Amino acid sequence: MNAIRDIDTFVDPTHDEIARRGYISRLRKHVLSDLSNTMQNAYDSTVKPAFEAAHGREPENGEEIRDAIEGNLAYRTWSSIRYNAQEMVWESVRDEVERQLPDMISVAEQAAQSNSHVGSLTLDPTLQMPGYVDSMDVHLMPGCWQEEHTKGDVAQGAVYAHGGAVFRGSLIQLDKRNGVAASVSQWLSIRDPEFKPEKILETGCTIGNNLFPYRDIYPDAELYGIDVAAPCLRYAHARAVARNINAHFFQENAERLSFEDNTFDLIVSSFFFHETAVAATKKVLAECHRVLKPGGRMVHMELPSASQVDAYYNFVLDWDNEHNNEPHYRNFRSQDFTDLMTGAGFAKDDCFMESIPEVSAVSEEHFRDVALGKAPPPTHGNYTSWCLFGATKAR
Ligand SMILES: C[S@@+](CC[C@H](N)C(=O)[O-])C[C@H]1O[C@@H](n2cnc3c(N)ncnc32)[C@H](O)[C@@H]1O
Repeated sequence: MNAIRDIDTFVDPTHDEIARRGYISRLRKHVLSDLSNTMQNAYDSTVKPAFEAAHGREPENGEEIRDAIEGNLAYRTWSSIRYNAQEMVWESVRDEVERQLPDMISVAEQAAQSNSHVGSLTLDPTLQMPGYVDSMDVHLMPGCWQEEHTKGDVAQGAVYAHGGAVFRGSLIQLDKRNGVAASVSQWLSIRDPEFKPEKILETGCTIGNNLFPYRDIYPDAELYGIDVAAPCLRYAHARAVARNINAHFFQENAERLSFEDNTFDLIVSSFFFHETAVAATKKVLAECHRVLKPGGRMVHMELPSASQVDAYYNFVLDWDNEHNNEPHYRNFRSQDFTDLMTGAGFAKDDCFMESIPEVSAVSEEHFRDVALGKAPPPTHGNYTSWCLFGATKAR
């Protein structure tokens, strides 16, 4: 089959649309840096002393801080601008996606017809969506991951691809190999150069952003991505075919995987568990244990658990719980991740929780030193580090 055009290249913003994207990226950066500092100053100088005077102690957790700060002008400014910037992220790319949708659908269909050529796409139109996916527009993206409005729809994948770039905007170094998968694969290869996974699975792969980079470090591995959302999977598969990446995509629920026991050498996920209900998280981890080969690894990138950070940072992180349509956020973070993994069948001594730098944010030497334990792990922050939890399956 002839090479197909990369589906990412169809969206062609006008001058004004580019300006709008840039404005929203910078607005987000302004909220997450300058306005965050203003809010923290207001907390330290006014809100916290008032709480201490009333209660005779410091706030103990994020919820107490949220309740104490809610009337404060600095908080209200930060929160309302952050909310509006989040809505505008998706809005800023919608027109561009709508204009090019027929061509993107067509290229995704061509890719799907090439199933025997490279990778594959297997959709299941009968799949029942989990309630935590289709009962709301998760992180305020209209249509969430899974909505379809026309045959072969890829719009949600495209909105996530282009909106995601606006969202990350000036927060990440786009000119370097970057992101969760680039960082985790690099870290794994430094920590264990002998580990050469042949089959890698990502649960909740969306459009493959954090699946494809494993190919750079493990070029012979077969990649598998599963997700419940067909528009994202079509988009991911079209990207993979255009880039000649051997990746297989399946529409299925990570709580009930179709794969045989002991199939994968490595299972990964990123930004996945905090969107699922805790009961579902337990089922997904049990499935990870089942489909991993003995000696296989699992590495999940997630937000830090509540116990890993202080009360103020818990308050900041958990904003999404109430304001970003992510109602499982706080519940997920309040779990003990090691308990979750041992409950799923992993031995306690085989579990880990670790924080690594974003690979594009530090020098190669520093990244290597952290991976080898010669430099301290980073604290969590805006795209400069990643919190991981995971385990090795006993042999
Ligand atoms: C925040 S996104 C993950 C982003 C992606 N890993 C990345 O790094 O770009 C969450 C994804 O998980 C998918 N998802 C949620 N619950 C799922 C489940 N039970 N099984 C499979 N996929 C699920 C959603 O459809 C969505 O695509």
